[in-house]
Amino acid sequence: MSADATAAAQRFYGRWSDFYDLLARSTPGLGRLRERAADALALEPGDTVVEMGCGTGANFPHLRRRVGPAGRVVGVDFTRGMLERARSRSEAASPPRNASGERTDPRAVDREGWENVHVVQGDATDVEFCEPPDAILATFVVGMLADPAREVHRWADMLGPGGSLALLDAAQTTRWFGWPVNQAFRGLVVASAPGDRKDYAEAPWTMLDRRVADARAALRERASATTHTEHALGVVRVTGGRIE
Ligand SMILES: C[S@@+](CC[C@H](N)C(=O)[O-])C[C@H]1O[C@@H](n2cnc3c(N)ncnc32)[C@H](O)[C@@H]1O
Repeated sequence: MSADATAAAQRFYGRWSDFYDLLARSTPGLGRLRERAADALALEPGDTVVEMGCGTGANFPHLRRRVGPAGRVVGVDFTRGMLERARSRSEAASPPRNASGERTDPRAVDREGWENVHVVQGDATDVEFCEPPDAILATFVVGMLADPAREVHRWADMLGPGGSLALLDAAQTTRWFGWPVNQAFRGLVVASAPGDRKDYAEAPWTMLDRRVADARAALRERASATTHTEHALGVVRVTGGRIE
């Protein structure tokens, strides 16, 4: 992504983080799709999972439930406003402790485990970790990356053999009844695209389709046991695989 495009995306998501959070949490059916994406990672208790472009943290409950208190969830995003929302979500769910590290709220027992949810401000295209995570998730993110295939290869390198990678994205449907669905989808893409629309060298929905497809092609190159499911009239795709 160029510096201009990055700045535009950060401005856009920074400005709309509250509204985005509302949509991310309350759009009917979206929670089920997030469950599917988390399932595609085949996480086990104790795993460390990194979410690239975590936004306001809407996937965190789905990931945390799978890795359990012994695992870790790390969200990476380059937009401060989105990250602040994600951070307050995990802090609000973490039981308060006193200076000695003891719980100060006995009613907080059911909230155990959120202390293992961390957020990091960083760029998904160059972030690095000291130890390889067990899994990487990116939901509604690869369409924003200038070269998603390169990033998927980089994430696969970061994971190493046995790690799992899953992508959840929306793009135009290829089903026979697609025309009216895609007209509505194009409107949504234009309304939710960061940046100055006059700058587009190609229609934003065409660019999105290409990036979503490129990311999946790269994932299929690197992974075995790949799963792919389509939802919402073929607009939403969940693809996951285990790196070879
Ligand atoms: C459409 S939102 C998706 C948020 C979240 N994954 C979800 O499913 O609700 C895209 C997010 O990706 C972040 N993002 C886009 N490109 C990024 C990059 N290169 N590095 C880090 N974050 C990025 C944006 O800041 C934004 O929060």
